[in-house]
Amino acid sequence: IVIYVPRDAAALAMDADEVARDIERAADERGLSVQIVRNGSRGLLWLEPLVEIATPQGRIAYGPVQPEDVAGLFEAGWLTGGEHALRLGPTEEIPYLKHQERLTFARVGVTDPLSLQDYAAHGGLQGLKRALAMEPGQIIDELVTSGLRGRGGAAFPTGIKWKTVAAAAASQKYIVCNADEGDSGTFADRLLMEGDPYVLIEGMTIAGLAVGATYGYLYVRSEYPQAIETLEAAIARARSVGWLGEDVHGSGRRFDLEVRMGAGAYICGEETSLLESIEGKRGVVRAKPPLPAVSGLFGKPTVINNVISLATVPIILAKGAAYYRDYGVGRSHGTLPFQLAGNLKHGGLVEKAFGLTLRDLLYGFGGGSASGRPLRAVQVGGPLGAYLPESQWDVPLDYEAYIRISAMIGHGGLVAFDDTVDMARMARYAMEFCAIESCGKCTPCRIGSTRGVETLDKIAAGGPDREQQVHLLRDLCDTMLAGSLCALGGMAPYPVLSALNHFPQDFGIESSQPA
Ligand code: NAI
Ligand code: SF4
Repeated sequence: IVIYVPRDAAALAMDADEVARDIERAADERGLSVQIVRNGSRGLLWLEPLVEIATPQGRIAYGPVQPEDVAGLFEAGWLTGGEHALRLGPTEEIPYLKHQERLTFARVGVTDPLSLQDYAAHGGLQGLKRALAMEPGQIIDELVTSGLRGRGGAAFPTGIKWKTVAAAAASQKYIVCNADEGDSGTFADRLLMEGDPYVLIEGMTIAGLAVGATYGYLYVRSEYPQAIETLEAAIARARSVGWLGEDVHGSGRRFDLEVRMGAGAYICGEETSLLESIEGKRGVVRAKPPLPAVSGLFGKPTVINNVISLATVPIILAKGAAYYRDYGVGRSHGTLPFQLAGNLKHGGLVEKAFGLTLRDLLYGFGGGSASGRPLRAVQVGGPLGAYLPESQWDVPLDYEAYIRISAMIGHGGLVAFDDTVDMARMARYAMEFCAIESCGKCTPCRIGSTRGVETLDKIAAGGPDREQQVHLLRDLCDTMLAGSLCALGGMAPYPVLSALNHFPQDFGIESSQPA
């Protein structure tokens, strides 16, 4: 009997190792033969550790399983379909999973993340095989047609980025994967790296073939030790079977890659400081142009893409651009792994085609607030994303629709707050975050964020000049928006302004519309 116990960081935090150990011990004591597979997480985080039993009728889920539940599960005869309070039924039938459209995450939680056999048996390597039979230009055309846009947050068309790198003449080019997932409330990159590392390696290999790069770097934040360990092991296995190295799958083409660990700076998720960091320098933002696509790592043309962008490439190549393009709305093609966090009953990962609404995610999937109190605000797109009030929860999740309401989808993370939230405090947090994480290169961000915190403190303290301080804060936000060198200083005003515009009462003012 095969039993799946996730070894993803979220499950480990909920004692999955102890659960796996106790299952093994309990089966031994009962003379039962079980094989435990440590899979990735299905992304239903409130149910972790989510243990699954493989049966002829499919996998049956139990969760959240704690070490003290194990004996009772065996007593209930869970291996042969016995009833138990933690039994959730067939995994694929759990509504949270059933209603998703998992393309990039198709294998996550399903396979053994390090098994190459499992990977191939579940559709892995099809994209690479097709790419190896194509001309580089054809691969890029396929990607352009698919409509895939950068999933790190900026939504720049991936195919166009690759085209720029392919067109640059150079003796060496690089593929860099940005796995410095620093946004609050985001964990899609981590779930993918821990649950299906080969899809990312496959995507990077295809990128190498498409643009003529022979080497890649995976820049992973130090806060993700399990992801680093999984990737290192997957790379070694891929190398041992001749997928990576001098002769990719016997094609005579070269591609290899390595993992580099970050040291905990948010700004190293900005592409140019990430490149500085790989080069062994302090993570400070470089002015653009030149774009990394023209002069990137070690001054060479470099594709730098987020984990999800690269991990989506294999399915596009395997199933064709049209298949992927048909998901989504407007110019937002395909799917996005949304990450539900904060005060929600059912936090986790939901991969869906663009076009659904925040309300669908908050209530349809998230189950409303965990506290039972009414939800009041949702921050979408990380710590630099806007706070959305309920009046905006029916806007379709589509890059352009969000820009129209001065918000951004970013990397797809959302953090929900109930009616006890103090939005003036949240605005202060955004400015403080910017002040702490600023790389210091440009004045609007370095000085502006500190002055922003001071101004917000004055507003919170009340006093007769409160209105004037609000005016000053808006002015400062304008300067930061227009004058910052990168997105950190350039976007920190979004949470501040959205809080001011939608929740003025929290600042002690009646209404605060922009002048
Ligand atoms: P950007 O708009 O400057 O650039 C987007 C990408 O397109 C970059 O890789 C850039 O090099 C590339 N690009 C632009 N024009 C190009 C051309 N003609 N040819 C080839 N490549 C071209 O955005 P930026 O500053 O790189 O990223 C900001 C975004 O990062 C924000 O929208 C935010 O959502 C996101 N972000 C994500 C975080 C995460 O944890 N995933 C953390 C913080 C921010
Ligand atoms: Fe550095 Fe901030 Fe300027 Fe970005 S906006 S370059 S983080 S100082």
